[in-house]
Amino acid sequence: MNAMFWQRLHGGSTHFPIVLLLASVAFDFMARPLRDLSLRRGLHAAGLGSAIVGVLGGCGAVVSGLVMTGGHILGDGQEKMHHLFVWPAFSLAFALVAWRLSRREKFSPRYLGLYLAGMSTASALVMGAGYWGGEMLLGAETETDSASALDSAVDENALVSRGHELFLMNCAHCHGGDARGTAEAPNLATRHRSDARIASVVKNGIKGQMPRFNQKLHDEDVRVLIHFLRSLNRGPSGSPQERDAPDEETQRS
Ligand code: HEC
Repeated sequence: MNAMFWQRLHGGSTHFPIVLLLASVAFDFMARPLRDLSLRRGLHAAGLGSAIVGVLGGCGAVVSGLVMTGGHILGDGQEKMHHLFVWPAFSLAFALVAWRLSRREKFSPRYLGLYLAGMSTASALVMGAGYWGGEMLLGAETETDSASALDSAVDENALVSRGHELFLMNCAHCHGGDARGTAEAPNLATRHRSDARIASVVKNGIKGQMPRFNQKLHDEDVRVLIHFLRSLNRGPSGSPQERDAPDEETQRS
């Protein structure tokens, strides 16, 4: 049985106790002021019933939790916060339900008051445990999010440096190694053109100005080159994009 299994079981089995404990407290509170004896009994029975099922569900959560943490009762960080709520909540609820069960018929209103105060505390603690458990899950998610953001940043850098290589081999003798322009050809870092326009210029060339590369470069190469050119005018410039020059000058084949 793998870690995912225990994690799922834990996640699943913790929701029931939280809901059931709250419901049980609500049932008992509703029952207390009632005059109608049978209705009151019924509600108290519902309260006790959901408390029992809730505590049994809590056992499942505790066992799966212990398996997940390898038996570490406290741990640290958010896990420790989670456990600082879990253990008192569970012990309190367990003890109270056992107490109520053991005295069934002799449960006086005063005992019930004590029991309800204890159960309300236990429910509040269980919600606290759920809160910190949720924080732990969120923390795990943001970690994976930033990991994948890092991955795509690495991919982007790889694309840009491949694009730079292609640029050095095909374009640098006119546009300069850093694409900042030479006497032969303009600065491309400041000349903002749409991807489509760049692709078209590279494939078809510009009559009398720039050779066409449709034999030499594949679509994939052009895409990579565009990544490189985009990386040049990224940054604080924020200047509005110049309108694309009309396509008429483009050599057609
Ligand atoms: C023989 C020199 C030469 C080579 C090689 C060359 N270019 Fe150019 N390129 C030019 C000149 C000259 C212009 C300016 C044309 C104009 O503005 O009329 C230009 C313009 C451009 C423009 C701007 C087009 C526009 O719409 O204003 C882009 C983008 C461009 N080149 C990309 C490239 C890329 C990418 C390569 C390599 C695959 C490359 N060039 C290779 C000479 C060259």
